[in-house]
Amino acid sequence: MSQAIDPEPPEYLPRSRIDRVERLLAELTLADKIGQMTQATMPEQVEAAERERLLSLVREGKIGSFLNVADRELRNELQSAAMEGRGIPLLFGRDVIHGFRTIFPIPLAQAASFDPGLARAAAGVAAHEASEIGIDWTFAPMVDVTREPRWGRVAEGYGEDPLVASRFGAAVVRGFQGAGPGAPGSVAACAKHYVAYGAAEAGKEYNTTWVPERLLRDLYLPPFRACVDAGVMTVMCGFNDLNGVPMSAHRWALRDVLKGELGFSGFVVSDWTSLREMICHGNCADERDVAFASARAGVDMEMVSTAYAQHLAELVAFGKVSLAEVDDAVRRILTVKHQLGLFESPYTKVRAVSVALAKGHLDLAREVARASLVLLKNDSHCLPLRADHRHVALVGPLADDPHNPLGTWSFDGDRRASVTLLAALRERLGSGARVEHYPGVPDARSTDVSGFDAALAGVKQADVAIVVLGEDANISGECRSRAYLDLPGAQSALLERLASAGTPLVLVVMAGRPLTLDRELAHAQAVLYAWHPGTMGGPAIADVLFGDVPPSGKLPISFPRTVGQVPIYYNYKNTGRPPKGTERGVPRGTPLDPVDMVASYLDVEVTPQFPFGFGLSYTTFAYSDVRVSAKRVRLSERFEVSAKVTNVGERAGIEVVQLYLRDRVGSVTRPVRELKGFERISLEPGESRVVTFPLGADDLAFSGPDLSVGAEPGWFDVYVGGDSRAEASDAFELVPD
Ligand code: NOJ
Repeated sequence: MSQAIDPEPPEYLPRSRIDRVERLLAELTLADKIGQMTQATMPEQVEAAERERLLSLVREGKIGSFLNVADRELRNELQSAAMEGRGIPLLFGRDVIHGFRTIFPIPLAQAASFDPGLARAAAGVAAHEASEIGIDWTFAPMVDVTREPRWGRVAEGYGEDPLVASRFGAAVVRGFQGAGPGAPGSVAACAKHYVAYGAAEAGKEYNTTWVPERLLRDLYLPPFRACVDAGVMTVMCGFNDLNGVPMSAHRWALRDVLKGELGFSGFVVSDWTSLREMICHGNCADERDVAFASARAGVDMEMVSTAYAQHLAELVAFGKVSLAEVDDAVRRILTVKHQLGLFESPYTKVRAVSVALAKGHLDLAREVARASLVLLKNDSHCLPLRADHRHVALVGPLADDPHNPLGTWSFDGDRRASVTLLAALRERLGSGARVEHYPGVPDARSTDVSGFDAALAGVKQADVAIVVLGEDANISGECRSRAYLDLPGAQSALLERLASAGTPLVLVVMAGRPLTLDRELAHAQAVLYAWHPGTMGGPAIADVLFGDVPPSGKLPISFPRTVGQVPIYYNYKNTGRPPKGTERGVPRGTPLDPVDMVASYLDVEVTPQFPFGFGLSYTTFAYSDVRVSAKRVRLSERFEVSAKVTNVGERAGIEVVQLYLRDRVGSVTRPVRELKGFERISLEPGESRVVTFPLGADDLAFSGPDLSVGAEPGWFDVYVGGDSRAEASDAFELVPD
C-alpha cells in the first residue's frame, strides 16, 4: 500500500535565473513578450479560415500557448509555425483531470481512498497517455477546498478538509510532473483555482466569495502552499470575486501571497476569458482597464480573451504597466517552456506503440476505483453477496452505461474501453448464472415510469437486486450547480417500488457529489457509494460487492440529510450553545428562559447523514491505547500520537485510521476537531497494528488574532478512529519552550 506522505520532490523550478531565458528575454520585442502572455484556443471543428488566421498569428509570435489542441499532427504544424516564426516554442495545455484515455475515478472519489499514493500513480498514467499526443501541460489538480455539495465542481477536488486536499494536491502534482520537468511521459501541472473558488456563495457556479483572511489562510490556502512546495509549475486563478476583487485582478493574493509569501516561481494563467469577464463583474470599464488590472495583479498568461494582445503595449508605452512587470511574467513563462525541454524538443514524435489503455493503466484504474468505493449501509450482512446469489436483477439507468460513470471532464476517455457493471457481473458470475438488466427509467434524469413494472417483475424473481442510480456525468462539474441534492428524475420512486418486492436490495449510487439519501436508505439493505468511478468502475464495484476486496473508502466530505443543512462540515465551531446530541424540535424554552435553546434545527437532526471520514467495512475495527508520547510537549519538540487498531471481525479488511485534535482554548475560537493525520492499513482477522502519527507545533498552528501563525500553549484533546466522530482519546498539554 502506498505511503500517505510523499518523499521530497525534485527541484522543478530553480530560483536562480536561467541564462538562456535571460538572453532570450533581452532579445525579445515588447510585441513578442505580449505574444508569450497570450493563450488561444483551437476549436475542435475549426474552419479553414480560422485555422489560417491562428497559424499566421503564431508565425508572427502573437500567441505563446494553446489550449485544447488534442491532435498530434495539428500540434506539430502549429509548433513548426512558431519555430519558423519567432523561434519560441508553443506550450500546449488541456484539461487532463482524472485520466486521459484511461479514466480514473473523479478526484473526489480518489480522495475517498485517503491514499495520495494512488492518486499520484493515476496522475502519472494520465500524464503518460496525454503526453504522447503532445500535451505538455494539464490544468489540474483542482485543490479548491469546498463545503458545498451543491457546487458541481465539488467532483473535481478533494473535499472539505485542507489536510486531505494538501496531501492529494501535492501527490497529484508529483504524479503529473514525474521525475522532473521534461522527463519522458510527464506534463506540467497547474494548481487551480486560486483561491477560495470553492467558497462560491450558495454553491452557485462562478459566484461571489467572501472569505475572511483567517479562513482564507487556514482553510483555502494550505493546499496551494502544498502544491507550490511540491514544485507545481503553474497556477490558474479562479473566476471568483474574492472579497470584492475578482481573482484576475487580485494583486494581494497573486503577487504578495502566492508569488511572495508562498514563493511560487512558476507562472499564473487566467481562467477562460476571466480577464474580460471583469467587465461583467463591474470592476473594469473596458478591456484596457482589464489588461491594466491583471498585469499589475500578476496574471502572467491570458486564456482566450485578448485584453493583453490589444492593450498591454499601449499601457507599457504610457507607463501604466512597467516593463519589469511584463518581463517578470515572460520570464516565468519562458522558464517553464525551458524546463519542459520545449526549446530542445518542440515536436511530438509518434510512438511505435501507444501506451493508451495499457493493461497496467486499466489495472490501476480498477485498483483506484476499488479503494474509492464507500460502503454507507450494510444491514444484516447483506454484502458481500454470496456465491449462491446466482440470479441477479441489475436495475437502473447507469448499470450498463459506458459513458456517464466516467464523470465530468472525461471527453478524451475512450468509451469503448469502459466496462459497465452489467458486463463485469456477467464476467464475474460466468455462464451458469443469470444476470438480467432492467433500466427502470430511460436515463438518470427521466421522469418516465413506464419501465417500473418490468423492473419490479424481474426483481421479484431474483435472489438479489442491485440497483444502480445516481447522476449522469452532465450534471456534475463546471456550471452544474444543483439546488436539490436528491436522486434526479423518477429514480427514487423506482427504488421505492422495487423495495416492495421483498428481494434483498443493494443500492449502488454513482454521482459527482454527495446526495441526500434519507428516503433511499429506508428502502435498501446495503448502499455502496461509487461516485463516478471511471473506465474500470464496473469490475471494481463487482470486486467489492462479491467481497473479492473489502470496501475501504471513507467520505472526504460530509453528507447532509437535507440541503437545508448545507454548509455542513466536521471541523465546525462549537458556538456558545452547542447541542448535546441529536436534538431537534421546538425547544421548551423562550429567549426569556432559554431552556434547551441550542445551535440546532427544529425540523432535522443537527448531525450529517454520514460524517466526514465515514465508511463501513465487511469487518469491524476496534481502537484502543490512544497515547501521546508525552503528557507535556514543548513548543519546539516533535511528538507522536499512537493508537492500537485491531481487526475484531472475521474477514480481512482495510481501515483508514484517522487522527483528530481539538485545541481546547485558543485566542481565536477553535474548531471542535481537525484532522491531523491519516493512514490506510490492511489487517487480517484478529490482527492488531499500532499506528503512529508524528506531529510538531506546525500541525497545531493557526492564524491568531493578528493573523500571525503559530501554535498556542494549552491543552489538546486527541481522538483516533475510523471517522470524524472518533471517540478513543487522550490529551496533552503544549507548554512554552
Ligand atoms: C474553465 C475552467 O474553470 C477551468 O478549470 C479549465 O481548466 C478551463 N476552463 C480550461 O478548459
